[in-house]
Amino acid sequence: MTPTLSVTSSPFSDSGNAALAEISRDIAERVLALKPYQPGKPIEEVKREFGIAGEIIKLASNENPLGPSPAGLKALALATSKLAQYPDGGCHDLRVAVAEKLGVSGDMLIFGNGSDEIIHLLGLTFLQEGDEVVVGDPTFVLYEATATLAGAHTVKVPLTRPEYRHDVVAMADAFTDKTRLVFVANPHNPTGSVIGKQEVEFLLKRLPCRAILILDEAYGEYMYGEPDFPAARDIILSGAPVIGLRTFSKMYGLAGLRVGFGVAALELIRLLNQTRSPFNVNLAAQTAAAAAINDDEFVAAGKSLNAGGLSQLTSGFARLGLTWIPSHANFVMVDVRRPCRQVFDALLRRGVIIRTGDIFGMPTHIRVTIGTADQNQRFLNELESTLSHISETTP
Ligand SMILES: Cc1ncc(COP(=O)(O)O)c(C=O)c1O
Repeated sequence: MTPTLSVTSSPFSDSGNAALAEISRDIAERVLALKPYQPGKPIEEVKREFGIAGEIIKLASNENPLGPSPAGLKALALATSKLAQYPDGGCHDLRVAVAEKLGVSGDMLIFGNGSDEIIHLLGLTFLQEGDEVVVGDPTFVLYEATATLAGAHTVKVPLTRPEYRHDVVAMADAFTDKTRLVFVANPHNPTGSVIGKQEVEFLLKRLPCRAILILDEAYGEYMYGEPDFPAARDIILSGAPVIGLRTFSKMYGLAGLRVGFGVAALELIRLLNQTRSPFNVNLAAQTAAAAAINDDEFVAAGKSLNAGGLSQLTSGFARLGLTWIPSHANFVMVDVRRPCRQVFDALLRRGVIIRTGDIFGMPTHIRVTIGTADQNQRFLNELESTLSHISETTP
């Protein structure tokens, strides 16, 4: 039976609206328990809120500072004349392009309205009331949301300190016969850490028989080709119970279009397909992504810009006497040794949007997306003057 809440704890009871309070009686507890996702503040909102006329830089959502893939943009222009039609529900052209690029068969792929949607579908497809989902802590918040919505329990295993990596031994120790999904973002968000081939093998060896390991490679493009990086695609082809998640939102610069995909054995993909809505990826997104997946030049440029930006930022942090978590992605977490909300607010007033660590249980850290060299420099300058006005937190 669906659990119900008393009216006194309903979000509507304070409004004095009896009809809304009555509706909320029947809202499942798990829906009320969901923590709303806190997105990075949009540039336009900061402009309105603070009346900033100058340039605002957003280094909060790990978007590509180079903008969209040029190949994707060119293809997008051709899509506009077709917008009166529904998109292809089977994503045929995109499927063919991605299958070819990855060297897998097309029926091993599922496409979504961002990889967010596929995370949601994982819960709908594979989780039931009372199941368990094992995640690192802190991690990307949508893993817990999908578990909560399904009535499953999220088992949070602290990342190791001080490197903030997944503790695969502790994760495996947390597996039970109720474990159904294990999420590892690799590279990890928010810390930028990675796990290697041996660690993935270890998790797979200990994985209970009905469980699936989800390797979320939203930032995989920053690591593919590194000798010890356990690419989900290779592990899946070896027959392991793994689902790989990929996105066009980060390296390919298409976050605004919303398109991501999952790779897995065709039996798992078939099940996931049962839960998705028929036209879940829009026509513009399909067209641009099908071209972007082959934009190797753009990916190489993004990777190289990112490597330079990471060393620019970390040299700046070192100069300011700050420590940071070694990152393998397009963002880095730095310990500013001050309450992160104060640093966030002060940077916002100066037109620089970053992420606070408190939402991840890290109250003196901030997470900054690696931008262009100019953006990184502006961030470092603003950070330096901001920190000079805020007292350090006593340890
Ligand atoms: C680890 C991770 N997974 C998935 C996503 C979702 O990406 P999208 O829905 O834009 O494909 C993000 C976005 O920030 C992320 O950081």
